[in-house]
Amino acid sequence: MRGARVLGTGRELPNRVVTNDELSRLMDTSDEWIVQRTGIRERRYADPSIGNCHMGAAASRKALEKAGITANDIDLVIFATLSPDMFFPGDGVLIQEMLGLRTVGAIDVRNQCSGFIYGLSMAEAYIKGGFYDYILVVGSEIHSRGLDFSTTGRDVSVIFGDGAGAAVLGPAEPGKGILSTHIHSEGKYAKELCAQAPGFFNDPWITSEMIEQGKTYPKMNGKYVFAHAVRRFPEVIMESLARNKFGPSDLSLVIPHQANERITQAVREALKLPKEKIYSNIELYGNTTAASIPIALDECLEQGKIRDGDLVCLAAFGSGFTWASALVCW
Ligand code: UT7
Repeated sequence: MRGARVLGTGRELPNRVVTNDELSRLMDTSDEWIVQRTGIRERRYADPSIGNCHMGAAASRKALEKAGITANDIDLVIFATLSPDMFFPGDGVLIQEMLGLRTVGAIDVRNQCSGFIYGLSMAEAYIKGGFYDYILVVGSEIHSRGLDFSTTGRDVSVIFGDGAGAAVLGPAEPGKGILSTHIHSEGKYAKELCAQAPGFFNDPWITSEMIEQGKTYPKMNGKYVFAHAVRRFPEVIMESLARNKFGPSDLSLVIPHQANERITQAVREALKLPKEKIYSNIELYGNTTAASIPIALDECLEQGKIRDGDLVCLAAFGSGFTWASALVCW
């Protein structure tokens, strides 16, 4: 069976930088608290005229250019986001139009922080199975318009930022590229990190009371999510290594979803990895959910942190709960 590999990546970050000090003027928080508890120093917020489809399309154009193929070559688009531009249709069709893709399939993935790896796993299967040759996987989020900037929402609001990343995948020789992907979920924890409204559990599905009561804001049981994350990240990375008969010392680089610098360091310690083998950019962008891994991957490639033949593991954990990994031989 043929392989599937990443041919090119791209990222798009809004220009507007929002520092911890700026947030401290809106709510009772401080630069010291945010840096100590999360490692975040600043994040980006998109301008009002920009949607996920715009950022996703910009990241995708860069990914296409680096992959050396054109929009016309794309056979499928997979768009991961928890903050879609419209309730429906999904962003996949918006980007199909914006990029001028052929009338190819457009799939929207809603698996939050794990969304990009869920998308990769679908692309892997389609390409390895011979169904499609070139697939665009996009992760994009605009959190800044859905956060509670009062002190009530400070535990969540200081964490999240906006941004987009994209990867173009295509065929590879067997044994090269994505070696395996692993996706998991545990829905009994759905309410530990969620937004209750709008949604069709409610009748009517949105009311002004729900908005006033803050039900549209994300709610997170932070300590609980943290405890599960530090267990699931190492577990799903080890799962990918075991499947391919490797150990942690074989890894050249781990690119984790950027949730919290303390989580990243706990994963590093669990796997006994040296500092340089786990990538972190959370101090600059905060948590960009489905976009965090493709943004980080694009930066790593740009900075020459990934070389031919390197063994790279991408891993994520988040709302759902969902968690996932992809082991890649570059
Ligand atoms: O990507 C999706 C997955 N998400 C995650 O992985 C996030 C996982 N969780 C976390 O990263 C952490 O739990 C947080 C960063 C959200 C919170 O850190 P924590 O160390 O768990 O703090 P905490 O929630 O236990 O709060 C400690 C104190 C509380 O005050 P009291 O009760 O001790 O008086 C909070 O009210 O810190 C307070 N606090 C804040 N203070 C200043 C909570 N948020 C803030 C804030 N600024 N922004």
